Order: sequence, then C-alpha cells, then structure tokens
Amino acid sequence: MPIRISPSILSADFANLERDLNRISTADLVHVDVMDNHFVPNLTLGLPIVERIQEVSPLPLDVHLMIDDADRWAPRYAETGAFSVTFSAEAAANPRQLIKDIKSAGSRASVAIKPGTPIEPVLDYLDELDMILVMTVEPGFGGQSFIDETMPKLRAARAAIDDSGRDVWLEVDGGINDATIVTAIENGADTIVAGSAVYASDGTDPNERIAALRRVAATVA
Ligand code: DX5
Ligand code: ZN
Repeated sequence: MPIRISPSILSADFANLERDLNRISTADLVHVDVMDNHFVPNLTLGLPIVERIQEVSPLPLDVHLMIDDADRWAPRYAETGAFSVTFSAEAAANPRQLIKDIKSAGSRASVAIKPGTPIEPVLDYLDELDMILVMTVEPGFGGQSFIDETMPKLRAARAAIDDSGRDVWLEVDGGINDATIVTAIENGADTIVAGSAVYASDGTDPNERIAALRRVAATVA
C-alpha cells in the first residue's frame, strides 16, 4: 500500500510560509488547517491565505476545514484549486450534497470525524467520498498526543473501504511521530498528516523528517 505524507503547515513559520512550503518538497501533499475559533477553540487562516498558498505551493493542497457552516464554506475552498477539501462531519448539515458541491468545484471530497464521533454515519456515503479523515487528536492544536482509542474506527473504515472496492484514501491527523505512524498504518491508514514531527522544533530539515517517516512506514506498509 503506498503511504502518502501530508505535512501540516500549522507547525511551520507563518511569517515564512513560502520558504517552509519549499522545505517539504519530498512530501506528497501539504496539509492546510483552517480553524475559525467556533468549531474549534483556535483561529488560523482563511480563504485569502489559502488562495495565496495555492498559488505558490509546489505540492497539491490537502485543505482541512475545522469550521462551522461547512455547507457554505467548503465549496469556496474547492474553488481555490485545492486538490482535496476535508470538512468536519459534525459541522455539515447536508454532507451528501456538500460532497457533490466540493467535487463539482474540482476538488476531491473528504470528511473528517472527531475522536468521539462514530464512523458509521460517514460510511453511509462512502460511495461518494474520495477520502475519510479519522482525527487522532481533538482538533484545534498541533503537538498533542495520539489517541489510541480511535484505532477501532480506523479499522472499521479500512474494512468498509476494502469491501467497497473503491480507491478511498484513509487519513489520520494528530500526534503522528516515528512510533504512532506505525500504529496508524497497521490499523489501515494510507495518508499521514504530521505537523510537529515534520517541522521539528530542533530545526531538523523537514525533508529529512519526511524521509525518516517514510523509512518507518516502509517497515509496515
Ligand atoms: C490539529 C490539526 C493537525 C495538526 C497536527 O487539529 O488538524 O493537522 O497540525 O499536528 P501534530 O502532527 O503536531 O499533532
Ligand atoms: Zn489537520
């Protein structure tokens, strides 16, 4: 199974985003966390900045929306040219319609669930989805610890995807490091978000951190 690495720029230097985007050239995607201080108790960036990141990023954008009123806003993010747009299941009134709207605006459509949200309702529209994101921390902040209790949901999603025969990606986000990436892959993840593990506070080259994650991933995948 190919493993994709999607570094989260939440841990990058927001005053030097273009430089930090160029420091992850060996990644598959770039993960962009949009937070509105309503759905989560933190505020990051919005549409104008995502539009600009889209213009300068050498990598496809993996936009992760942690915002209320996803039905209204998610298609606007798809219109930026983002490769993928993930909305939070808990913030969408009509997920099935929203998936259609994101796809018709040109992006892959994906839905995220918080650690306490069951997977089953999401599996009801698996036939329309391009990716499922199982949050492995409470959304809102980087640098938290991986919640092992989310693994049964990841396994259930992997089983349903395999049964469907469709190429639906399965992403994890939160608390990924050289150890938890193994757990996530063993439980079925194929797309890995990593923020603090890539933009390490000790100043290690982010591309070296990506290589290290890939080496560990190769021992299981
Ligand atoms: C948290 C965000 C994550 C965050 C992950 O709500 O969705 O993408 O950047 O950060 P780490 O990898 O440090 O847990
Ligand atoms: Zn995220």
